[in-house]
Amino acid sequence: MTLRVLTGITTTGTLHLGNYVGAVRRAIAASREPGAESFFFMADYHALIKCDEPARIEASRLQIAATWLAAGLDTSRVVFYRQSDIPEIPELTWLLTCVTSKGQMNRAHAYKASVDANVAAGEDPDAGITMGLYSYPILMAADILMFNAHRVPVGKDQAQHIEMARDVAQRFNHTFKEELFVLPEASIDEEMELLPGLDGRKMSKSYDNVIPLFEGGAKALREAISKIVTDSRLPGEPKETEGSHLVQIYDAFATPAQRQEFRAALHAGLSWGEAKDRLHALIDAEIGPMRQRYDALMANPEKIEAILMEGAAKARAIAAPLLARAREAVGLRRFQPLAAPVATTAKVKSTVPAFKQYRENDGLFYFKLLAADGTLLLQSTGLSQGKEAGQWVARLKREGAAALAEAPVSKAAADEVVMPALEALVAAEIEAAAQKG
Ligand code: TRP
Repeated sequence: MTLRVLTGITTTGTLHLGNYVGAVRRAIAASREPGAESFFFMADYHALIKCDEPARIEASRLQIAATWLAAGLDTSRVVFYRQSDIPEIPELTWLLTCVTSKGQMNRAHAYKASVDANVAAGEDPDAGITMGLYSYPILMAADILMFNAHRVPVGKDQAQHIEMARDVAQRFNHTFKEELFVLPEASIDEEMELLPGLDGRKMSKSYDNVIPLFEGGAKALREAISKIVTDSRLPGEPKETEGSHLVQIYDAFATPAQRQEFRAALHAGLSWGEAKDRLHALIDAEIGPMRQRYDALMANPEKIEAILMEGAAKARAIAAPLLARAREAVGLRRFQPLAAPVATTAKVKSTVPAFKQYRENDGLFYFKLLAADGTLLLQSTGLSQGKEAGQWVARLKREGAAALAEAPVSKAAADEVVMPALEALVAAEIEAAAQKG
């Protein structure tokens, strides 16, 4: 199977120059290399988790689609689609949800950060947290597993989600005894997100230091560049290029020869104002033609729509058969005469004895252990607390015969029957714990 590379981008907001350098440009270049099959999609279901303003959702997915196309994504070579056009993804999400342990979701960074913020603010830990945020990693796992992607290029902050997708895939494969899903691997790009912003910190909307990509047109680009913070050396004074974020931004668009030339000019006293003009010319040479394509696409959304519908058709042609196999694996099958395996599972289960807890008219709490055929094996004495009965049951399940001497129970059957039953109980408990992971 050819190497499958897949990545998604959450459609909230618009893309800035840092996203272009860190993600878009790279992904497009990678998709042109022979040998890999690339999937790019707009994670618009993920966007709903962060945003409940329909107009922003609508605008963002259109703008981001137009950005990718304008930047040169070759849709004849890659599968380019909107997550929400693939109904197989939410369906797979549910199948995966059913094998995902809640404890693992509790440990997801995004959810934990929200809980921590609530706790720090003295709020209820789950205040304002939706099930969408909580289940976010499962939807993301479905995005990836749906296409059996091998490699997922993401920023560092997403690495945990890829680990979770691996775990979920593994658990599904193991539970249903079929190697249905490829275990994906993150490819973490250290350089990703490294483009500095106007003030030298990482370029990010949350720092309000971004250089827009297409938003606001040529004018906005020029204005943003004029606001790049520099030191106060005067024209004619030699400039320090090491550590200058203006130079770093320049480098992201320059050839090695251009980089050298720019440094030499700055060392020779080029003014920061002129340096910004050169930077602007350099960036605009690359993205100016894209901006024109962008504007043309934004004026003709139906063209983008058509491209995306084609992408969705390609994606669904891959997703549908895999989903069909997943449904089959879990037992959501066309009706047919039942096969033998059902009986076998029942038999395996039936060898495990079971506890029953109850309360008598005397007000006390009791428990008893019954063999699968209903034979009484152990009978407890009356306990004043229900919790105490529960604790003994838990301990007997864990320790089996080892807990017998201390437990408030009497044997109701011969050792030859009770002892193997307790062993089976402990074995079942270990098995259940292993499945929970
Ligand atoms: N969660 C990712 C982000 O915010 C976007 C995303 C959604 C994604 N589904 C994905 C990335 C699947 C890679 C693969 O950056």
